[in-house]
Amino acid sequence: MNRSRILGAGHYVPERIVTNQELSEMMNTNDEWIVERTGIHERRWFTPGVDTVNNMAAKASRMAMERAGIEPSEVDFIVFATITSDYFLPGNGVLLQRELGLANIGALDVKNACSGFLYALTVADQFIKTGMYRKILVVGAEIQSSALDKSDEGRSSAVIFADGAGAVILGAVGQSEPGILSSHLHSDGAFAEELYCIAPSSSGEVRLSQEMIDRGDFFVKMNGNTVFKHAIVRFMEVINEALNHNGYTKDEIDLLVPHQANLRISQYVQQKLELPDEKVFNNIMYLGNTTAGTIPIALSQAWEQGRLKKGDLVCLAAFGSGFAWASVLLRW
Ligand code: UT7
Repeated sequence: MNRSRILGAGHYVPERIVTNQELSEMMNTNDEWIVERTGIHERRWFTPGVDTVNNMAAKASRMAMERAGIEPSEVDFIVFATITSDYFLPGNGVLLQRELGLANIGALDVKNACSGFLYALTVADQFIKTGMYRKILVVGAEIQSSALDKSDEGRSSAVIFADGAGAVILGAVGQSEPGILSSHLHSDGAFAEELYCIAPSSSGEVRLSQEMIDRGDFFVKMNGNTVFKHAIVRFMEVINEALNHNGYTKDEIDLLVPHQANLRISQYVQQKLELPDEKVFNNIMYLGNTTAGTIPIALSQAWEQGRLKKGDLVCLAAFGSGFAWASVLLRW
């Protein structure tokens, strides 16, 4: 059986920087609250007519392919994680296939929100292990800012979510090579309505009515406090599950790349695992929470900054809407 390995990572974030100060002009919030409660100083929001989920994903993908040293023609399959697809139908995988000019390869969309990239990576890993494909483009990309209620009512979500795209090339390598060691996927739908977006919905008479618009059904709704409390528990569980499964201890981790939900969540996990700062990667301070985008963007930046070296033990972990949570342990 093959092992799969990340051969290259890339990312793209929109040019528009939105500071906390700018948010405080839109809603009743302030820099001090946002920094203290979330760790975020600024984030990137897309520019309508310029950025799309598809074109950001394509930029991230081209960078990942270049860094992996592969030609687009070598990509066998696409797995695209997003909850903010450009169209309601079809998904973004096929748009990326077209944009990159990839011959008629398959494209799969994954809609698991903040854990989406780890679910996507795990799906790709299975295809590679079985030998069905040798090189898979795995993407996490989102435009969240158009689903945010920027009034006082939506302020707890509006200050954390942001836009951006990341991509990796997952390739087949021999069993003795470094690569993905294990994945651990979980969900608990009992909490679906703690972080969700109702519209457009297939189960109404029409998918988007004036009434739904007036009610703000197309805004992301989050009960932040409940999500936070579950996140810190599940993060710890799923990271320990990955370590135990492979017979490693927490001090053997070289880099933890947590989903960038809230800096306080990452810091809690860091403290519990007793990891020094250099062993935890955070970029939420200047990029916010880009849902499925956070982990591949972080991997791309961590690699750029020389924080990922061949053979490093890397733990990826995520928690979010669903609830769904996941971890992937790998040797870089
Ligand atoms: O990415 C996937 C999953 N998402 C997460 O993991 C997010 C998890 N949750 C969180 O990050 C945090 O819960 C938030 C950042 C969303 C909120 O922080 P919090 O510390 O849990 O605040 P809270 O919701 O308990 O609200 C505390 C107070 C409230 O005021 P009162 O009732 O105490 O007077 C809120 O109305 O802070 C108020 N508040 C704000 N004040 C200024 C909420 N949002 C804001 C804001 N600016 N943006």
